[in-house]
Amino acid sequence: MQPAKRLEKIPPYLFAEINRKREELEAKGVDIINMAVGDPDKPTPAHILQVMHEAIDDASTHNYPPYQGMQEFREAAAKWMEHRFGVTGLNLDAEVISSIGSKEAIHNTFLAFVEAGDYTLIPDPGYPVYRTSTIFAGGEPFAIPLKAENKFLPNLSAIPEEIARKTKLLWINYPNNPTGALATLEFFEELVAFCKQYDILLCHDHAYSEMAYDGYKPPSVLQVPRAKDVAIEFHSLSKSYNMTGWRIGFVVGNAIGIQGLRQVKTNVDSGVFKAIQKAAIAAYSINEAELQAVMSVYQKRRDIIVNGLQSLGWPIEPPKATLYVWVPVPPGYSSIEFVTLLLDKCGILVPPGNGYGAAGEGFFRIALTIPDERMHEAIQRMENAGIRYTS
Ligand SMILES: Cc1ncc(COP(=O)(O)O)c(C=O)c1O
Repeated sequence: MQPAKRLEKIPPYLFAEINRKREELEAKGVDIINMAVGDPDKPTPAHILQVMHEAIDDASTHNYPPYQGMQEFREAAAKWMEHRFGVTGLNLDAEVISSIGSKEAIHNTFLAFVEAGDYTLIPDPGYPVYRTSTIFAGGEPFAIPLKAENKFLPNLSAIPEEIARKTKLLWINYPNNPTGALATLEFFEELVAFCKQYDILLCHDHAYSEMAYDGYKPPSVLQVPRAKDVAIEFHSLSKSYNMTGWRIGFVVGNAIGIQGLRQVKTNVDSGVFKAIQKAAIAAYSINEAELQAVMSVYQKRRDIIVNGLQSLGWPIEPPKATLYVWVPVPPGYSSIEFVTLLLDKCGILVPPGNGYGAAGEGFFRIALTIPDERMHEAIQRMENAGIRYTS
């Protein structure tokens, strides 16, 4: 049997590889501190669980859900967009659709818009799905480097004119995985103008919209006046409410974008379990104090890691958002060399920056998804092994 040729062009999924490595070492009895994957370790808030328990016992949730999401779910999503970002006037049928987490919807957007000869503009470093889904769809990914000197924002003026003209989708993600970078509304305005100029669908992956600290509130691209002419935004409950396993989110914005996505999805999936949609409605009405209780856990861990690394000589600042700290490797090491050293000498598992694209070389990423004590231990193990940042 021969799998399709297209699979030969797809590299192994970064995190599948990382899990394989972890299992291999654990089988040898190594006590691994796994800071590789952005999968929250805490439970989903209790009141969301309560709604889920009741919804499961309600037989009306057991049949096929509507493809685009229940009316009540889309209403809750639209109300949340208004409450959270001041985005009003969303048409529930044409401009909002449920998704099975955001990874599914991200992939299916490529299938809806990209074909042979088309380019996609994708951030480098970036979430690996943007690249692989471009390839699945038969298009050409064009990586836009996110450089520290540009605060990890894409430099639009460096995109060649002939590529921009052949581009169907431009992907951005702020707060950003893996760099933790932020974007301002002014920058979103520039992106909207660029996409209008070249007739590109602007896709904002907002998976970390609520994962922010020190009082910072990330904006939505749809706050830009008339952004809906060119932009769609992907929201997910996965990270914000410790719900990665539940698989629910929504996509909102430009009607052509949503219609394309709906057309793919009606043919390949059958929506999200209605009980999960009911639980998600409860999540969207969560109060600020409850959300802050979830965020304070990560903020504390961020401080443990950043203070610890600073004490070992690292020149880093605490990120204001996401579940990650993006850390430069000490001079003289490549990303792979340094993460291998951390694994071999300290039993610490972290992904190399270049796993997110060539421009991630020189960095590694720490996910804040393990208990405080293990973070302290990771720093201690580095200190014991004499690992420091020395320039
Ligand atoms: C930038 C980004 N987008 C999307 C996702 C997908 O999340 P989910 O499918 O759980 O919503 C992730 C997960 O790590 C991510 O980091």
